[in-house]
Amino acid sequence: MGFFFMVILVGFVFGLILNHYLPLLFLKNKKLGALPRGSFGYLPLLGETLAFLKPHPSTTIGSFLQDHCSRYGKVFKSHLFFSPTIVSCDQELNYFILQNEDKLFECSYPKPIHDVLGKISMLVVVGDTHKRLRNVALSLVSTTKSKPDFLTHIEKTTLQILESWKDKKQIIFCEEARKFTFNIIVKQVLGLTPEEPQTSRILEDFLTFMRGLISFPLYIPGTPYANAVKARIRISASVKQIIKERRRNNNIIYNNDDNICENMNINSQKRGSDFLEILLGVDTLSEDEKVSFVLDALLGGYETTSILMAMVVHFVAKSPSALDQLKVEHECIRGKKKKGESLNWEDYKMMSFTQNVINEALRYGNIVKFVHRKALKDIKFKGYLIPAGWKVLPILSTVHLDPSINSSPLEFHPWRWERQDQTGKKFTPFGGGSRCCPGSELARVEVAFFLHHLVQNFRWRVEDDDQPIAYPYVEFQRGLVLNLDHFAL
Ligand code: HEM
Repeated sequence: MGFFFMVILVGFVFGLILNHYLPLLFLKNKKLGALPRGSFGYLPLLGETLAFLKPHPSTTIGSFLQDHCSRYGKVFKSHLFFSPTIVSCDQELNYFILQNEDKLFECSYPKPIHDVLGKISMLVVVGDTHKRLRNVALSLVSTTKSKPDFLTHIEKTTLQILESWKDKKQIIFCEEARKFTFNIIVKQVLGLTPEEPQTSRILEDFLTFMRGLISFPLYIPGTPYANAVKARIRISASVKQIIKERRRNNNIIYNNDDNICENMNINSQKRGSDFLEILLGVDTLSEDEKVSFVLDALLGGYETTSILMAMVVHFVAKSPSALDQLKVEHECIRGKKKKGESLNWEDYKMMSFTQNVINEALRYGNIVKFVHRKALKDIKFKGYLIPAGWKVLPILSTVHLDPSINSSPLEFHPWRWERQDQTGKKFTPFGGGSRCCPGSELARVEVAFFLHHLVQNFRWRVEDDDQPIAYPYVEFQRGLVLNLDHFAL
């Protein structure tokens, strides 16, 4: 008993020294201002991390931030993810942090995330390597987003999914949405269809990879974390194999005149405009960077987009007037087209109320609660000192739900976007500055096209208590069960 008590006491004193005094010991530039108020917590190394990560509905800011903001203000110090931290729920400081990437602040995800994502993932690299990878991402997205091939494939996949609901009274929407976004992204990135055996292998590894990304980082064989690191290695190997086959096939096409017609038939369907095909021709990236890029695109384009779809479906189910207005908008677009004609980029541009609904779901639902940064030098902001080397967490959700920025922020009200600027400093669901999400427009077009057919063919009801929870990654507890009324197709 005495020994047990001693262990707790030593742990407590050790925690105090480690969390409270060490960070302060190394502060040099006290002239710049005082540290914001706050608490480092008492758990050795973890500080307040467990309280910070406590799950809460993603449409609220959660009890930790509620409590700390009312006690210390919108900017406070804490000890999170093994590091002394400045937490910002302040719109101006968030904007300042995001705009000064690489100058005053730098992207800094926890080390275990590096091990799962890989050392050259775009979310992890900084400086010139980041710029090179990002330029490729931006140009791929800008050439893809309005291409008829891409748009037609989104529509075809939507119709396949909705067709499969025809005889069902109930579905688990998150599963359907994941199927939808995975089929789209795997086709767009690697040119693979769901029927190909490689697709199901990659999907299986990918699910293991995702589970590990959000698990406790314990590298012991059999833990979700260790499985994820291994799954990532297997996905890389699969992508390398696909690259090898693609190169071999392309060589056959270009070099073997005798067989050109035969091989063209096989490959012309697979080649075309998928990311991999374009990447193979990019000489600013190494082979490993190309493989890592493919993983980033699969990861970025899968879970977040499917959660956005689920949020829209969830919020619209509770807002009959938004659903009616969506229906009118999409019927009007369909009314101008021939029977069975595909949607195109011009149609997408006409979906203005749909964009308001998507914006509102992004604002209210907060898919990404915060991003990880660190201060590169001592910085003074509004009289506070942000010390060099400290972690800095701009919280995106608190700005979206701040009543001094958005009136009635806890209501789903898409009409607010008829007046409100969606490109401004106050709306950052995709981050901001030189790290702003390159895939945002792809996600928007996928959701808009899916809604086009959904609202014209189905009515749905959701169970009241199934809401989006920030773990902090967002998930619906029961996968969002929809009760369907089917009236066309
Ligand atoms: C609703 C859907 C999406 C949301 C809410 C979202 C959100 C975000 C956010 C907040 C960041 C910034 C991270 C940071 O600053 O540290 C980001 C970055 C990124 N996203 Fe997305 N994203 C979405 C869809 C996509 C899609 C469809 C793709 C790819 C096809 C994608 C690929 C990426 C990549 C590669 C980055 C890293 C960018 C960089 O570091 O320069 N995302 N995303």
